[in-house]
Amino acid sequence: MAIPAVIFGGPSDEHDISILTGLQVIRALGEVHGVYWSKTGDWFEVDPGLEATDFVDGVPRRSRELSFVAASGQGLLHKKRPLDIDVAVIACHGGPGEDGTLQGLLDLAGLRYTGPGQASSALGMDKLAFGAAMAAAGLPTLPRAIVSSGEEPAPDFGGPFIVKPRFGGSSIGIELAEDWPTVLALKRGSSYFDQGAVIEPFLIGSRDLQVAVRTYPKWELSAIEAPARAAEGIYSYDQKYLAWGGEVSAGRELPATLDPGVEEQVERLSARVTDAAGLRGIARIDYLEREGEVVVNEVNTIPGSMAAYLWIDPPISREQLFRDMVDEARSGPVRRFSVAGSDGTALRSAGTIASKLG
Ligand SMILES: Nc1ncnc2c1ncn2[C@@H]1O[C@H](COP(=O)(O)OP(=O)(O)O)[C@@H](O)[C@H]1O
Ligand SMILES: [Mg+2]
Repeated sequence: MAIPAVIFGGPSDEHDISILTGLQVIRALGEVHGVYWSKTGDWFEVDPGLEATDFVDGVPRRSRELSFVAASGQGLLHKKRPLDIDVAVIACHGGPGEDGTLQGLLDLAGLRYTGPGQASSALGMDKLAFGAAMAAAGLPTLPRAIVSSGEEPAPDFGGPFIVKPRFGGSSIGIELAEDWPTVLALKRGSSYFDQGAVIEPFLIGSRDLQVAVRTYPKWELSAIEAPARAAEGIYSYDQKYLAWGGEVSAGRELPATLDPGVEEQVERLSARVTDAAGLRGIARIDYLEREGEVVVNEVNTIPGSMAAYLWIDPPISREQLFRDMVDEARSGPVRRFSVAGSDGTALRSAGTIASKLG
């Protein structure tokens, strides 16, 4: 019988967090295939009963090696036999599991999957493109510019600046800079900016507001959270993740105490971001708020623990959330290409490549 396959891990900075999300999803869904994607990008079927500690030394013992064949009707193979999968539940954070790569692979393999499609996933991972898309949709954002070679003139907004890896996440590699020469020095000096860097004005005295949305069975918004900030003024990696699992101790206000005007802005903007960014499944939208003004900062298309802790009013259990997410994928189309129809005509080439190689 076809059952969901929960895919977690993956070659990403957020590999370890993804293991925790993956195991939570596995536990809540019950009968699933556990598919572990290693840091080096290899695929394994693992016992769904494993604990996080079983992964500390890498691939758990007695895991079964799988190969992923991106051809119609193939997918995840053990030796030559495909796992009987009805839906791939993507529990990966950052990197190719969240940036559209895995989504594209699943499209080619003809497997339905949770969360947004390839294009929306890629958009959500690119701070430059995402900011530009939101601005084009008429949503309030901060001006955001690319820092490239170091030859270009300063942007037309002033400092202090916050410098972020263009494709980053988890606050990794983020720096603050007083002026443009410092920005350029940082760009040259930090390997986190090798793939590109973006800057925007650093909003002194602002706070983060985060909210989850889901798109099935109907569009819904979670409670709004105001996470605490580190002394240096940004919500840091350590704060987010050192206390992971102990969600209460992570330092947050949930639900956040908000002026009705701010709450109303977050609600209204979240519906528009969902639409403009093509979100699907459960996503988290992050805003910056200062003196009653709210700007869209970023979107996490596969948030940690699927942002389950935010669904408190009315309470939605993890089981319910994850099951709805699977049902959404199940009831949606297979192959969510942005151009071709879902009739599979575009897929013959993928099959041909596989058989030529094989
Ligand atoms: N323009 C800004 N002004 C003030 N603080 C910011 C700004 N942009 C980001 N931050 C802070 O830095 C944190 C990380 O930035 P974010 O854009 O969310 O990147 P990441 O993808 O790494 O989470 C935010 O949660 C917020 O606390
Ligand atoms: Mg963030």
